[in-house]
Amino acid sequence: MPSKKRKRVAERGTIHPRNKYSEKPPDFGALASLYPSFEPYVFYSSKDGRPRIDWTDYNATRELTRVLLLHDHGLNWWIPDGQLCPTVPNRSNYIHWIEDLLASDIILNTRIDDNVVKGFDIGTGANCIYPLLGASLLGWRFVGSDITDVALEWAERNVRSNPHISELIEIRKVHTREKNPEEEDVHAEQGPDSDDSGGSSNRGVAEIGPSCLPSAKLQSSAQKKYQAPPILLGVVKDEEKFDFCMCNPPFFETMEEAGLNPKTACGGTKEEMVCPGGEQAFIARIIEDSVQLKQCFRWYTSMIGRKSNLKFLIAKLREVGVTVVKTTEFVQGQTCRWGLAWSFVPPSGKILSSQVSESNNKSFMLEGVQRQYSAFHVLQSAESFFCSSGTSCKLDSIQFKIDVIASKDQCESMLTSETEPYGALSYQHNLEMPDVSNQLDSQSIDLHFSISVFQQIPGTLLVKGTLQQKGNPNAGAFSLVFSKLEAVLKAKFCKPKPIAELSRSKQQR
Ligand SMILES: C[S@@+](CC[C@H](N)C(=O)[O-])C[C@H]1O[C@@H](n2cnc3c(N)ncnc32)[C@H](O)[C@@H]1O
Repeated sequence: MPSKKRKRVAERGTIHPRNKYSEKPPDFGALASLYPSFEPYVFYSSKDGRPRIDWTDYNATRELTRVLLLHDHGLNWWIPDGQLCPTVPNRSNYIHWIEDLLASDIILNTRIDDNVVKGFDIGTGANCIYPLLGASLLGWRFVGSDITDVALEWAERNVRSNPHISELIEIRKVHTREKNPEEEDVHAEQGPDSDDSGGSSNRGVAEIGPSCLPSAKLQSSAQKKYQAPPILLGVVKDEEKFDFCMCNPPFFETMEEAGLNPKTACGGTKEEMVCPGGEQAFIARIIEDSVQLKQCFRWYTSMIGRKSNLKFLIAKLREVGVTVVKTTEFVQGQTCRWGLAWSFVPPSGKILSSQVSESNNKSFMLEGVQRQYSAFHVLQSAESFFCSSGTSCKLDSIQFKIDVIASKDQCESMLTSETEPYGALSYQHNLEMPDVSNQLDSQSIDLHFSISVFQQIPGTLLVKGTLQQKGNPNAGAFSLVFSKLEAVLKAKFCKPKPIAELSRSKQQR
């Protein structure tokens, strides 16, 4: 059992240091005594006596969000049954990451208004969480867009319930093209000079058709590739400029894929969770829009649910010639998401294109994992892998994490051990380990690292490794050990790929 202190340190590492909850997580007991509506959802664990809620109860998670927004942010908030319920600490991390991007000098300072930050929240949802947090925490202005009536109505209600910030937030309706094709044609023909956008008042729901930027021709070619409502192009108005856009996209292609985490109940309707092509298509479309809109936004950003999509999208960004790419990880409990940011504003220094990747953090996906195996099985196998070389290895079954301390000899032993030949064909390339002797520094400083396993969607797990010591001369050895672990776990848990697919990927290498 990990000590309380160790556990707190581990939790702190996953939350932004400026997040209200980074030092002190919400105290359910105190909240229950202050808010009678929350009290029925709080119970005391028979194990450690700590106050808890049932994360699989939608009403409990929604009430928690309501009281956290009220108690810690002074916000009045509600959503109707079934609508996606945001977790406040998690959503705050994204806001603070954007705050860091804006404060950095990675790109030239081309801001039009130094006093007010202006953001665009793509798909603000009924919960309108990002504009509410951004406006209340940092005084930012927002346009929040959405396509569904329920999202627009409730986002608007949530804004109106908070008169102290309501002037800062505009909720903007995006027309779904399929519903009104004739009207869309007229807009397209009118081109960039027309202004029939519904005159977006700063309050109220402004209806925006695909009218303005930058030309009807470009817009229609983008539409051919992506048969769905507009996202930025045609929603952003002429002359509008923003410091950033943000997006928590519909991650999934189907509702089956979305029903992934039986441990939490955050709700989420099909309209919120699903879009054709899933998040990859949705964000690819934002990238295409950004190529047209270029410096209308200083930073384009999106949240991403699957690491494999992150790789695809970074490759796409490099193709379209952005000046900067940045990524981050948002980890909360068993959920891991990524943030992707890019810009067309020239870099301020010599950086031409940078993907921030800390070499102390490594990760890989286990895809095609057979149903009988859970994240815990994977964790146990990782533990056996390390223990078999005699390392000191502690498994924390609450955080799904192992802490490992390995000496130089133990690293050598891991790297030279044989990997089971299961699925050998599929993983041959992973077993090609380089010569390790010169990667292990002769001073022989122990490696101290942790391994965590996260469920992504059924059949897909994420394994993360974090080297605890900075500036360790044996960091290269950590890379090798982690690659070896990848080979071992893939050999054990992933279904072998069909032969045809294998020979195709061999030819490509
Ligand atoms: C996953 S929800 C995110 C809601 C909220 N931002 C949050 O973080 O909880 C995705 C939202 O995107 C909206 N959406 C889907 N397509 C859209 C589009 N083309 N433009 C704007 N919003 C869209 C959906 O209606 C839904 O409300």
